[in-house]
Amino acid sequence: MARAIVYTEFGSPAVLHEIEIPDPVAARGDVVVRIEAAGVNPIDAKLRSRKRPSPDITEPRPVGFDGAGVVEVLGEGVDDFAVGDRVAIRDALGTYASALAIATEKLVALPDAVTAAEGAAIGIPAGTAYQALRSLGVTDGDVLLVHAGSGSVGQFAVQFAVAWGATVIATASPSRHELLRELGAIPISYDAGLLERVRDVAPAPVTVVLDCAGTDEAIETSLALVADRDRIATIVRGPDAASFGIRAFSGGSPVPLTEEELAWRAEALPKTVELLASGDFTIELGPELPLAEAAQAHELMESGAASGKIILVP
Ligand SMILES: NC(=O)c1ccc[n+]([C@@H]2O[C@H](COP(=O)([O-])OP(=O)(O)OC[C@H]3O[C@@H](n4cnc5c(N)ncnc54)[C@H](OP(=O)(O)O)[C@@H]3O)[C@@H](O)[C@H]2O)c1
Repeated sequence: MARAIVYTEFGSPAVLHEIEIPDPVAARGDVVVRIEAAGVNPIDAKLRSRKRPSPDITEPRPVGFDGAGVVEVLGEGVDDFAVGDRVAIRDALGTYASALAIATEKLVALPDAVTAAEGAAIGIPAGTAYQALRSLGVTDGDVLLVHAGSGSVGQFAVQFAVAWGATVIATASPSRHELLRELGAIPISYDAGLLERVRDVAPAPVTVVLDCAGTDEAIETSLALVADRDRIATIVRGPDAASFGIRAFSGGSPVPLTEEELAWRAEALPKTVELLASGDFTIELGPELPLAEAAQAHELMESGAASGKIILVP
């Protein structure tokens, strides 16, 4: 038998519980991965609490999209992976589990230099950051403002934009400023008076904004700084973006991601694995909890008490 975290009603973290499930079976084109680490993302909690639209629950609902582990069983027709391969997983519902059957296009091989916890921390955060910056057309002439630059998405956004030659200003709590400086950003606090602080530190006018915070002040500051609304995007305030005249990449937006945007999200996984393996990118890992403590992991994430990516270990 395998183990999985599920919920049968929407609600607080307490609805998450561990159950035994039959060992997953690899259909044609799938492999079974023994999960070594699952990445905990805000969307997992937003779906659990139905803060994001979610269909009625008719059977135990699995949790988690990101993970890493070892290929254990090959389905028919699989020739690009072998039993024993270490892999990172993206966009595969049900990674809060001890094993999962997954289509191979959702996997990328993990080199020895990248740990399972790091592999599990890439899918959604790096995919979102990379796609958003590509959609915004960020290049070396830009001065980019990242709201919530210290978060999982924000840290990848800072690293990609710095690697592409942009100047990056990133908001964070003061205790995270050193980390952002090390990633190559100019850190500033996000409390009241944000607009003035951005203007004080910006070496040239801000040309593009990625909002990973979703606060009113983040949105108002962005609107005051950048006249071209096509160069302001939020990944949090999707439902309100149209009323501000800015772009949204999901985050509850009624506008679905385009095929190109989805392709960029997928492309980010192998690119990020390579950048981690070469030492050009880093990931800030947070607490590791046993799989059975998924509820505590969500409490920790939603309280904002932990820094770095929270990982569940089956
Ligand atoms: N649309 C999408 O496809 C998509 C994908 C991924 C994530 N998201 C959303 O994007 C948001 C960030 O995700 P994440 O995974 O990066 O979360 P995370 O790792 O939990 O980071 C959250 C960050 O928010 C910062 N923060 C807290 N209060 C803030 C405020 N008032 N102003 C500015 N920053 C503040 C925190 O900074 P300090 O720690 O420095 O205080 C923290 O670094 C979440 O709402 C998530 O649901 C959307």
